[in-house]
Amino acid sequence: MTQKRVNVAVTGAAGQIGYSLLFRLASGELFGNDTKVRLQLLETPQGVRAAEGTAMELDDCAFNTLDSVDCFDSPESAFEGAHWVLMIGSMPRGPGMERSDLIRSNGPIFVGQGKALSRADRDVRIVVVGNPCNTNALIALNNAGDIPSSRFSAMTALDENRARAQLAKKASVPVSRVSRMTIWGNHSTTMYPDYENALISDQPATQVITEQPWFDETFIPCVQKRGAAIIEARGKSSAASAASACLDHVRNFLRPTPAGQWFSAAVLSDGQHYDVPKGLIYSFPLRSDGRGNYEIVDSLRLSASGQDKLRLTAQELMQERDVVKDLLKS
Ligand code: NAD
Ligand code: LMR
Repeated sequence: MTQKRVNVAVTGAAGQIGYSLLFRLASGELFGNDTKVRLQLLETPQGVRAAEGTAMELDDCAFNTLDSVDCFDSPESAFEGAHWVLMIGSMPRGPGMERSDLIRSNGPIFVGQGKALSRADRDVRIVVVGNPCNTNALIALNNAGDIPSSRFSAMTALDENRARAQLAKKASVPVSRVSRMTIWGNHSTTMYPDYENALISDQPATQVITEQPWFDETFIPCVQKRGAAIIEARGKSSAASAASACLDHVRNFLRPTPAGQWFSAAVLSDGQHYDVPKGLIYSFPLRSDGRGNYEIVDSLRLSASGQDKLRLTAQELMQERDVVKDLLKS
């Protein structure tokens, strides 16, 4: 078997998501049994010792697919030669907060780390998970010099998974029967989980679940506020589900998207799709060719109310962009 190798940098490696994610990255589950994974962990100077503890545990798993684990407190060192940079390191919100309340404390992290991406592999892909993830991705992209903007994405796979799980429960089908679920816009309470175009067992979701008010009154608010509900119940923000979604997100870009399907991720809007203003990191339905390129699925139809929701979440992203405009130019 040919041995391949992938270098994965993970920021915030000693945090809760890091602890759920790293073992699965190392295990071969994502990149395959023929690929050796080199983990490059970034933490704050105070967090590095804990990351080293996790590195010891990774060694102790004796994964055949783990090449090495190194811990760093400088992004320049951590990103050296990275093929994937998973940007998780940042503060989570607490009860009663919105994700956008984190913007002025977390945003600056993505300036320095954005600049440090110049040390990564020329073909690097960058995934932003740290909140508010759309706008943090915009900050990283703006500070990343000549790295093509198509390399950057922010994670809405967790929202997609939540939406699919809720539809599956309501329709009493396995979650694998729910497809074509788009999350539009911001990873926030304005996101639009698009039930209009979703399929359940290859039929329109609205033909399988005929109780229309359920979509607007229960489904949409449930998905939009799921993060807060978890914080309320657990006392901490989602971690294992976020790590799992991060693997799904990377896998969605690594593999060719099956015919007739799509997945959701937030990418830079060029102003050419669904009237979304240019220059926002906005979650769209995407298809990947499995060779590192994606395209936005352009053919979805939306009701007038759906279109209003797309505009509302774009407006929120424009407001977030205004709040960090000093961080957007290198
Ligand atoms: P956590 O507090 O458990 O861990 C964050 C880690 O990041 C800490 O170990 C901290 O030391 C480290 N860190 C902070 N600043 C850093 C920096 N400049 N460089 C490197 N490391 C740094 O938090 P968590 O639960 O792992 O969540 C991390 C982020 O992910 C939060 O912003 C959270 O809101 C976000 N999140 C996003 C999604 C999503 O769907 N997009 C889902 C869940 C959580
Ligand atoms: C989530 O959706 O679970 C995360 O973004 C964490 C949060 O703050 O809600």
